[in-house]
Amino acid sequence: MAGGAVVSGSGVGANAPKSKLAGILMVSFAAFGGILFGYDTGTIAGITAMKDWLRLMGKPTDDLVTHPTGYMITSSQQSLVTSILSAGTFFGALLGSPLADRFGRRGGIFIACLVFCFGVAMQTGCHTFAVFVVGRVFAGLGVGIVSTCIPMYLSECSPKWIRGAVVSGYQWAITIGLLLASVINNATQHRDDHSSWRIPTAVQLVWAFILSAGMLYLPESPRFLVMKGRHEEAAKGLGRLTSLPADDPEVQLELHDIQAALKEEQDLGESSYLDCFRPSHNKLMFRTLTGIFIQGWQQLTGINFIFYYGTSFFQNSGIKDPFLISVATNIVNVFTTIPGMWGVERFGRRTLLIWGAAWMCMCEFLVAIIGVTISVQNQSGQKALVALVCLYIAGFASTWGPIAWVITGEIFPLNVRAKAMSLSVASNWLWNFGIGYATPYLVNTGPGNAGLGVKVFFLWGSTCLCCVIFAFFCVPETKGLSLEQIDLLYQNTTPLTAAKYRRELLANDIHVGDVSGKVHTDDKASDEKV
Ligand code: BGC
Repeated sequence: MAGGAVVSGSGVGANAPKSKLAGILMVSFAAFGGILFGYDTGTIAGITAMKDWLRLMGKPTDDLVTHPTGYMITSSQQSLVTSILSAGTFFGALLGSPLADRFGRRGGIFIACLVFCFGVAMQTGCHTFAVFVVGRVFAGLGVGIVSTCIPMYLSECSPKWIRGAVVSGYQWAITIGLLLASVINNATQHRDDHSSWRIPTAVQLVWAFILSAGMLYLPESPRFLVMKGRHEEAAKGLGRLTSLPADDPEVQLELHDIQAALKEEQDLGESSYLDCFRPSHNKLMFRTLTGIFIQGWQQLTGINFIFYYGTSFFQNSGIKDPFLISVATNIVNVFTTIPGMWGVERFGRRTLLIWGAAWMCMCEFLVAIIGVTISVQNQSGQKALVALVCLYIAGFASTWGPIAWVITGEIFPLNVRAKAMSLSVASNWLWNFGIGYATPYLVNTGPGNAGLGVKVFFLWGSTCLCCVIFAFFCVPETKGLSLEQIDLLYQNTTPLTAAKYRRELLANDIHVGDVSGKVHTDDKASDEKV
């Protein structure tokens, strides 16, 4: 192993849960950025169904059955205004990397808020469809940058023993944002003037303001500062995050670890986008592909089928009020994320990913089987389907929802973290767009459509089965390890053999520089096969 200071298991408990509450609460605040993500993705469907918005942006129609407000936009306009956000978020996620590496993780978040506010202001003040769409692109860019920078900041600043829960807080904020969007849309939808859609749109400025104002008080990520050679500032920042003086041995130990791991990577010269795909000793290619796929599989669980198209699906169940339906699914989503935040530190990432996907797979196959068996008139059967879908959402919210972000935030080495993370997050948005776009064609009947209806759950059940297999073969357990120890884990083991090595890292408090290339030769041998 090249370079690296020897900062061995001194047992100072660099991350022991002593009086760290202040630092943890401080970092956790950044998770608030998830509200921007959740609210913005959740609000558009409601806004584009509002009468005043349609009157201003669309045209009158006599078809009151399909368009009860008496106004409409064309299907291509509908798909443009919904999917254009994904285009913005995709490119925003990619942009997150150069911004986070150039201006810092905090700087990236500030820039995201600015771009986002510009887009929201355009949407709020506009009178034409074209300007609204351009506003969506800018808001999307902001959300995309946030979705790369926030999990990165959270992972880099949280103590290792609670990092999973803190990053899961970001997912929790996403779910709260989705819920707020559905509640606020409902509160304003019956107003007969521009305020019906301008209020829910403009409210987003408040989220961006709270996030950027709060970030002013938070320190920059110490890992970013080390990368830039600003070691003193990094020590101060680490000190603030751990409520210790900068020269405390505990702070110095962690700092050494970060420096040693970075030096090792820099000695190997790994830092371009191409390097993210290099099958190096550090398994960069495997790690990058794991990030890209875990985000893709998270979307392929089918969760956004429920959040984008669930309303019409549930209406068959006899629950006629679409608002009640969306609030119910969102409430389940918010509250069942909480056990996930606890479980990720109690049971670990890998275990929850495997069992969560198995649970979702079971629920989705049951929905599909019952759905094709019973008639639409069978109200109790339809209600059972609703219950099963809620159980499915609970499975997602407590496992794959948060943990996809946790894994993406922690499996990459510092030198390429921003790049590999941005590629992974961009994959989330790409799949999000693809699934959102394809679903109506898959589900609806009529020419050009596959007409799957409830049978689409066979598809989501099968993809969840693939999620089980993916998690089993590709995701090692990283619970409790520092980001630098995760580097060691990848270098010396495979996901299937990682458990034993992880226990040793924890038991002996092994740090970067302790480990000779000879350790765990058995694991290394099998490692070559990955
Ligand atoms: C996903 C979103 C999804 C949300 C639901 C997020 O982790 O990336 O696509 O809408 O969870 O809670």
